[in-house]
Amino acid sequence: MERKVVVYGGGLIGSGWAAAFLLGGIDVTVYDISGGCLENTRARMRVLLERVSRMAPEAVPAEQVETYLRRVHYTCDAEEAVTGAAFIQENGPERLQVKQGMIETIERYNSSAVIATSTSGQRVTEIAANAKHPERILAGHPFNPVHLMPLVELCGGEKTSGEAVEKAYRLYSEIGKMPIVLKKECKGFVGNRLQAALNREVQDLVARGVCSVEDADRAVTYGLGMRLGLIGPHMVFELAGGEGGIAACLTKFEVSKELLADLAAWDVRPKEYYQMAVEGARAELAARPREMGDTHGGLEEFRDAGLLTLLKYHGLLKKWEGD
Ligand SMILES: NC(=O)c1ccc[n+]([C@@H]2O[C@H](COP(=O)([O-])OP(=O)(O)OC[C@H]3O[C@@H](n4cnc5c(N)ncnc54)[C@H](O)[C@@H]3O)[C@@H](O)[C@H]2O)c1
Repeated sequence: MERKVVVYGGGLIGSGWAAAFLLGGIDVTVYDISGGCLENTRARMRVLLERVSRMAPEAVPAEQVETYLRRVHYTCDAEEAVTGAAFIQENGPERLQVKQGMIETIERYNSSAVIATSTSGQRVTEIAANAKHPERILAGHPFNPVHLMPLVELCGGEKTSGEAVEKAYRLYSEIGKMPIVLKKECKGFVGNRLQAALNREVQDLVARGVCSVEDADRAVTYGLGMRLGLIGPHMVFELAGGEGGIAACLTKFEVSKELLADLAAWDVRPKEYYQMAVEGARAELAARPREMGDTHGGLEEFRDAGLLTLLKYHGLLKKWEGD
């Protein structure tokens, strides 16, 4: 019998997960507490798949879009959704009590599925605090847009079993994701910590008047970002050290204490940044060439086309193999 995979909560991230499972060759059941939200999920799924089909027909041929969309089952009935499920991806609101409530509902009808939460900020130990089977609960933290971003961060709580982590790892790998496993619970996992560190410095540079919003974005997109979409920071060091590799690099380039002391260390964003960011981002967007996205929707299209190209470059785009 086929494994039943459930996307529990069909908002922005839930829709992305549903598309990710479909693109990975796995049918899904999407549950949401609200029928209105499920209608939005349905509409979002069509937009996502039609866009992938237009930009990468080798993954979803145009004539297959309807077939893909028919592989999603939508329901507002929690019992029907989770009964018999082998894997449940939880994507409800980011509030501890709501997450605990969802676990309680799931456990009423299912005692064996692995439950992966998409939480970006809650500790799994707390989400699973009242669970009857905390050993099967872990974080499977994705990145938006979930169907195109390969990274999923797996993190267990105090009672999560190795078996649950392994099952999630296998399933995510099967649909073409690039999972990493955290060895201990850590606020923000890895990805959001890196993002927070970069964003604090970017926002500080703008607030201090060192560079404009647009130039800060340029520095990331055409500088660090170009390389980092291809190889990680350790591999960047490996190449920066020449023939001596990372060992030479670490010996040659000591971190400058003066520079570190000058980096942003605030825990409340500078007030003046808000206006600068809103006006700067508006001007930056309007100044972009139309073909690179000068509207919110256009920018999303430009981003997705680029992500699909990168996925192909990394050999991570699953080709459609027919049914
Ligand atoms: N937005 C992001 O960029 C992002 C990235 C990674 C992880 N996450 C995490 O993913 C989760 C979902 O975020 P989102 O941005 O999709 O939120 P969202 O508000 O778009 O979606 C939440 C969905 O949960 C549904 N819901 C509410 N109560 C529910 C319940 N009791 N049972 C089932 N469904 C319920 C809502 O109807 C809604 O459709 C959060 O935990 C968030 O931290 C978000």
